[in-house]
Amino acid sequence: MRISVIGCGYLGAVHAAAMASLGHDVVGVDVDASRVEQLSLGEAPFYEPGLGELLKAGIASGHLRFTTDIDEVAAASVHFVAVGTPQSLEGKSADLTYVNAAVEGLIPRLAPGSLVVGKSTVPVGTAEELALLIGQRAPHASLAWNPEFLREGFAVQDTLRPDRIVYGVPSDEDAKRVEQLLDQVYAQALTQGTPKVVTNYATAELVKVAANAFLATKISFINAMAEISEVVGADVTQLADAIGHDNRIGRRFLNAGVGFGGGCLPKDIRAFAARAEELGLGESVAFLHEVDAINMRRRSHVIELAESVFEGDVYGKRITILGLSFKPDSDDVRDSPALDVAAGLHARGAQVVATDPQGIANAQTRLPELMFEVDLPDALRNSELVILLTEWAQYKSLDPHLARSLVSNQTDRVTIIDARNVLDPENWQAAGWRYLGLGR
Ligand code: NAD
Ligand code: UGA
Repeated sequence: MRISVIGCGYLGAVHAAAMASLGHDVVGVDVDASRVEQLSLGEAPFYEPGLGELLKAGIASGHLRFTTDIDEVAAASVHFVAVGTPQSLEGKSADLTYVNAAVEGLIPRLAPGSLVVGKSTVPVGTAEELALLIGQRAPHASLAWNPEFLREGFAVQDTLRPDRIVYGVPSDEDAKRVEQLLDQVYAQALTQGTPKVVTNYATAELVKVAANAFLATKISFINAMAEISEVVGADVTQLADAIGHDNRIGRRFLNAGVGFGGGCLPKDIRAFAARAEELGLGESVAFLHEVDAINMRRRSHVIELAESVFEGDVYGKRITILGLSFKPDSDDVRDSPALDVAAGLHARGAQVVATDPQGIANAQTRLPELMFEVDLPDALRNSELVILLTEWAQYKSLDPHLARSLVSNQTDRVTIIDARNVLDPENWQAAGWRYLGLGR
């Protein structure tokens, strides 16, 4: 099939490369010329395992190209909209400027029978409005909403082998044709038995935000248990293991720590609550405000814990931050808890030295005032407090004896705050550290 992908960020670049690897002819369009240039060279503009290889193979095969020129979409029959839907500057709702601009750009270029497929995460009701617009201005084309569930760090495998595919299709006689077109796009995954849910626009849009709201709620639930565990002397990690053995609950997404960040969960729960309020349904998702509040408290809690290590004042203390990205295997620092903690400590006068295997460049753009150190031993040298904020494999397997030999020897025991609860407290204590987890 001839496919265009509008917006080549974390979602769109992976989608374009994955579609080309399935044999489709794909053109990716982005307004960012330097991003297009990099992608055209087969270079991933951000860190995502496997993406570079997929891009190079796609470009070499002739099935994949990138451009800033929207006119080049005209030959495609399926157009994916994968632009960003960030939190709006003036409130908590989603900013639909980019989605609207992408659809406006597509309308004059839609060939008869072509299909616009929304992939961006949007407030419920958006697709219905866009379908009306397309119906008025390009009545020969159709709209589907096909939310994306990929996780950063696993984006390539999630796109090629999704755990489900959801189609929001029109409510008229066009529905079957739209479904068949999407079936051709996803033929390989469907043949492999991927479950498919065909539904209306509103359900498709809601499936996406409901899934992210559920995941966020699960994390904040366990973080609420961490708050309680800390006061009563319980261990939230054991608690999570124990309740996770119940299949109805499940152990995944029950890791307590500094909480969730990224370009999706935080903004999506806020946009969901804002949309529900617009619909007069604020009460139905009022709990999401609490989910958000618990999550944001985790960041200030880590700062308070750091202060407590120095009797309330971190001024002038050398503090090492391990991890800047919002999760391991990603360089994405959007709404990263680690960045918030680093900024908070810096604002209190600490000498913050931050390191990350992939996230330094992005973090530097956002917080140029921090000290960054690429080399892990250098980052640890002479440190008076170490805080693990992103659970990269190299931090999980860090040798506590080696780390102890690098940090300050002015105190008897240097503290490590394990803000992801991934280290073995006994090992670290045995190597001469004071260990502080969250809720354990
Ligand atoms: P992103 O900011 O990384 O990428 C968006 C891209 O769109 C940018 O490269 C930008 O230059 C480009 N763009 C903006 N306006 C454009 C236009 N008019 N024409 C062409 N290109 C344009 O964002 P992202 O993380 O890829 O997220 C995109 C959407 O996908 C969001 O709605 C997000 O919620 C959703 N989503 C993201 C993920 C993820 O893991 N990142 C997963 C599932 C869903
Ligand atoms: C999330 C969803 O998992 C994807 O299904 C979805 O497609 C995507 O958002 C999106 O809509 O963009 P992602 O943002 O890549 O994916 O990251 P997650 O793996 O969900 O992690 C989100 C945050 O939660 C991270 O900061 C992570 O550290 C944190 N987390 C995760 C916890 O604090 N505890 C856990 O147990 C799990």
